[in-house]
This record gives sequence, C-alpha cells and structure tokens, in this order.
Amino acid sequence: MYKTFNVAVMASGRGSNFEALAKNCARDDFPATLKLLVVDNPEAGALNIAEKMKIETAVVDCGSRKGAMNPESTGIICNLFQDKEINLVCLAGFMRIVRGEILDKYQGRIINVHPALLPSFKGLDGQKQAFDYGVRFSGCTVHFVDRGIDTGPIIVQRVVSVKQNDSEEKLSLRILKEEHIAYSQAVRILAESRFEISGRRVIIYDE
Ligand code: GAR
Repeated sequence: MYKTFNVAVMASGRGSNFEALAKNCARDDFPATLKLLVVDNPEAGALNIAEKMKIETAVVDCGSRKGAMNPESTGIICNLFQDKEINLVCLAGFMRIVRGEILDKYQGRIINVHPALLPSFKGLDGQKQAFDYGVRFSGCTVHFVDRGIDTGPIIVQRVVSVKQNDSEEKLSLRILKEEHIAYSQAVRILAESRFEISGRRVIIYDE
C-alpha cells in the first residue's frame, strides 16, 4: 500500500505507546507511516526504541517550567513537522501541555491517549485516581487535543474492569495494554478519514 498519512509522536518517557504504534505503522496494511519521534527528555526510553526501529528522532529542550513548553520549542517542533509533512501528531505520555503554535497549526490533527475513561480522572495519574476512587470500571481514552486539559472530543475508549484483588500497578498494566490497541484504532480511523465531528461527538463510519 502506498501510504501518504504521516504521523509524529511526542513522548517524554518509557515509550510503550510509541512502540505499539510504530509496530503497526510498519505493517503494509496499516494506513499511516510513523515519520518522527519528538521527546523533551534526552533520557526518554522511547529514544532507544526509535533507534532500534530506525525512526527519526528529535530531542527538543522545552524549558524548565514543569508541564509547560517555551515558545522557542513549539516553533522548532512546528518546523520539524512541516519538514516531515506530518498529518497527525500523537501525544503518547508527553508530560507537557501543548499550546501555542503547535496547537494553532495542528488543531484537529493532534490526539492524546489518557489512562482513564474521560471525562473522569483528568490530569496526572489517571489510573491511580480511578483506583483510589473505587470505580468498578476504568480504561483508556484517545481524544483530540483542545485548549483544555484532557477535554477534547473522544475518538476511542476501551474499558477495563477493576478486580477485587487489584492493585494500582496491576490495573495500570491492563489499562496500558488497552492503550496500545486504542491508539492504533484511533490513528486508523483518522488516516482513513472515517469520521465526522458533530458538536462534541466524533461520529465514526464503518465501525
Ligand atoms: C501512558 O499510560 C499514557 O496514557 C500516560 O502516560 C503513559 C505513557 O506510557 N499519559 C498521561 O498520563 C497523559 N496525561 P508510555 O511512555 O509507555 O507510552
């Protein structure tokens, strides 16, 4: 298949979601190509995975303000995306709030994976928040990124049940497995243009 839908991933850490998506993108029958990994942290495990998979990487200093990105970094990243003709930006454990030039230029083309069923348990440690709250079901959400925190329209959710003898760690691992599936499902839907947004609802065709 000739693929013209180019994806960039932004990550800060381990990179398991990046790896799962990169593996799918390497398949002939998957309609997207993973062109670039951007990290804000030179220690990110995602870099080693990218090196093994021969995916281009960029380490961009986003500034020392925790959770924020300085304007220089958003400019640099936008230029990289333009050079690589990126169609979709996937945040995968990128621990900063994306605003400014990136959001202006890629509005509707940036998505994020969150380790809880939004709109519950937004922000950091979604798995722990859900576990401590005592929910019977949690899961993961892939959603468009808007100006809020974890507030954009929802593309895919996958549900995980909480067991009586669960721990936060065990639950997090089961959620992570579903994240890996959900992210590729969402990227496929977008790459194949099989959706329409109506208000907050993402209507998906041929599901
Ligand atoms: C994932 O669980 C992802 O949902 C979470 O960070 C982890 C990254 O893991 N993201 C957030 O909590 C963002 N609010 P990974 O580096 O192995 O993909």
